Amino acid sequence: IKRIGVLTSGGDSPGMNAAIRGVVRTGLSEGLEVYGIYDGYLGLFQNRMILLNHCSVSDIINRGGTFLGSSRFPDFRKYTIREKVVRNIKKRNLDALVIIGGDGSYIGAKKLSDMGCPCIGLPGTIDNDVSGTDYTIGYFTALETIIEAIDRLRDTSSSHQRVSIVEVMGRYCGDLTIAAAIAGGCEFVVVPELKFEVQDLVNKVKFDIAKGKKHAIVAITEHICNVFDLAKYIEKKTGKETRATVLGYIQRGGKPVAYDRILGSRMGVYSVELLLQGCSGCCIGIQNEKLVYNDISSIIQQCVHRPFRQDFFRTAKRLF
Ligand code: F6P
Repeated sequence: IKRIGVLTSGGDSPGMNAAIRGVVRTGLSEGLEVYGIYDGYLGLFQNRMILLNHCSVSDIINRGGTFLGSSRFPDFRKYTIREKVVRNIKKRNLDALVIIGGDGSYIGAKKLSDMGCPCIGLPGTIDNDVSGTDYTIGYFTALETIIEAIDRLRDTSSSHQRVSIVEVMGRYCGDLTIAAAIAGGCEFVVVPELKFEVQDLVNKVKFDIAKGKKHAIVAITEHICNVFDLAKYIEKKTGKETRATVLGYIQRGGKPVAYDRILGSRMGVYSVELLLQGCSGCCIGIQNEKLVYNDISSIIQQCVHRPFRQDFFRTAKRLF
């Protein structure tokens, strides 16, 4: 291997810059040329990339987002589009690629590997919904942001004695929501992995009021329901003023916390070491604080049926 490329794909996440930096600095120290590909698979398709040097990745470890840019590029599913991408990779003499992103990006990495372009995947998403790893790059920063927001919501909902419903990102994974509920001291949590009975929430609010509680915070993962309609319903059924807040993209941005910087750096370094050992079609994870790698196909399969962290949920419920 002489020349590699690195790209970030899908929703950006804090710590992606640290991962790119890890790839670049390790690649250079191994005598490789490292190209940064702009805007994910789209940039690869449009042949937009730049040769990176040591200083290209200076002053980025502390920055959120990804300095290479990211995108969603659904057309990448088309074989003809990928054929053009493979031609670009060959023209540029890229021997291997490091793909930083979520499970969608992994599918692309697997397909490119199958077409003769060795790829290695790094889990970069705030959602923590990738299998084969305990944590994804960006998860802990997003969690801090969410908890800060919940703390603020607590101030105002306690002052007004209201129920506050807070919608958290995570796509179809409740990890961020459950963790936020534990650390944010929420009274109720709703996640995509478990059936939501609105009556349970009504009962809980009424029960808490009877117990003397003056306000409540409810954490709910996105895509479950319209939280503004839910707030109206809860207010109607409990007589308690209720407001909803969608945290939205605020959760994706911001300075990465130390853990995400370290995780991104470790994974970035490891990815180049694995590529030099001939690894292709695999992805990196962290399990019990140790870096591991797995075959991407097995991970993609498991992402669809990713085991729900039941113990985590039980802890949250104990504290309600
Ligand atoms: O995958 C990360 C994520 O932020 C999800 O939590 C969210 O559902 C999605 O991306 C939003 O994607 P987009 O940026 O394409 O709107």
